[in-house]
Amino acid sequence: QKIILQDKFGRDHTYLRISLTERCNLRCTYCMPEEGVQLSPKSHLMSYEEVYDIAKTFVDHGVTKIRLTGGEPFVRKDIPVILEKLASLPVELSITSNAVIIDKFIHDLKANGVKKINVSLDSLSRDKFTHITRRNQFDKVYKNILLLVKEGFTVKVNAVLMKGFNDDEIIDFINLTKDLPVSIRFIEFMPFDGNKWDMSKMVSYKDIMDKVNQHYPVDIVERLQDAPNDTAKNYTIKGHKGSFAIISSVTNPFCDSCNRLRLTANGQLKNCLFSSTESDLLTALRNGKSIEPVVHKAVQSKFKIRGGMDTLEKLQKPDLHGKNRSMITIGG
Ligand code: GTP
Ligand code: 5AD
Ligand code: SF4
Repeated sequence: QKIILQDKFGRDHTYLRISLTERCNLRCTYCMPEEGVQLSPKSHLMSYEEVYDIAKTFVDHGVTKIRLTGGEPFVRKDIPVILEKLASLPVELSITSNAVIIDKFIHDLKANGVKKINVSLDSLSRDKFTHITRRNQFDKVYKNILLLVKEGFTVKVNAVLMKGFNDDEIIDFINLTKDLPVSIRFIEFMPFDGNKWDMSKMVSYKDIMDKVNQHYPVDIVERLQDAPNDTAKNYTIKGHKGSFAIISSVTNPFCDSCNRLRLTANGQLKNCLFSSTESDLLTALRNGKSIEPVVHKAVQSKFKIRGGMDTLEKLQKPDLHGKNRSMITIGG
């Protein structure tokens, strides 16, 4: 079998993130501009058959893990069928959601073997949550996180930290893990089109650990073993049922062990979260061509670090490198 998913740096790409939709029922400020984004015409979006056909090619070439993202994956009407189709492939299937309507789909998730669910929750304060998401859905999301835990899913909670906004909640989030068996992941705020990123708004890995170490005695903060290809550095407070982690894409990128490729809802392959180029798999598929050469070429052109933005200077001036999308249409 031809190795089409290995790049020039020897990285094997075994993890495919598929964005199912550009739409979302929240409006997070770090993810999209206030005015929203230009949506692709429906005819340019992958149907569930096309999602399956593309996914199958990746699985045939060694992908073992698929994560569904969006937008919000559950706003897609045919999500039950997509889950069912993908569950027939030999892969670990997981999903990242804002959890606003996930309670309606517990049965579909279980029936199709989904075990790991990552949920975005950026504040434990109802007012702050409403401010950041521009929607008043805190109670539903919080209730649904508890429901997912009760139903036996492995739940990670993603919190994007922003200076002066929610960085005073780090200890509250960690305290939540005392009795709740979830992993809270603090994410360094990253720059994407239209999210008004600025280095000074970002809360760094170091800032977070300084707060942790000020609050807890050193001997109870335990560094855990990270999963292979983990984006996060994992910790726990001794005696807590859950854990916490830091995703430091800005100050401590984990690109050396990157095993990820991304497929956007309009069928474009991105070889990196930060890449400014895309490869059109959907058109190839619709023209009845093999997508393999397109995938191979995309993987071969992958940069070593952050799509070529290897320094903080380049991250700060992405126009030096090319234009990326808004997060809502990449899928995280
Ligand atoms: P696991 O499967 O649980 O490891 O999930 P994950 O961390 O891969 O995915 P999730 O969708 O929960 O994303 C959490 C955060 O990690 C988001 O802010 C993503 O943008 C970021 N992230 C995920 N994959 C990558 C990556 O390949 N590179 C970078 N720099 N960040 C990533
Ligand atoms: N910086 C860091 N993380 C982000 N996410 C979305 N936008 C950003 C950003 N600008 C995260 C969300 C979601 C995950 C898939 O990506 O928290 O949980
Ligand atoms: Fe992989 Fe790009 Fe993320 Fe680095 S920034 S881990 S290369 S997707």
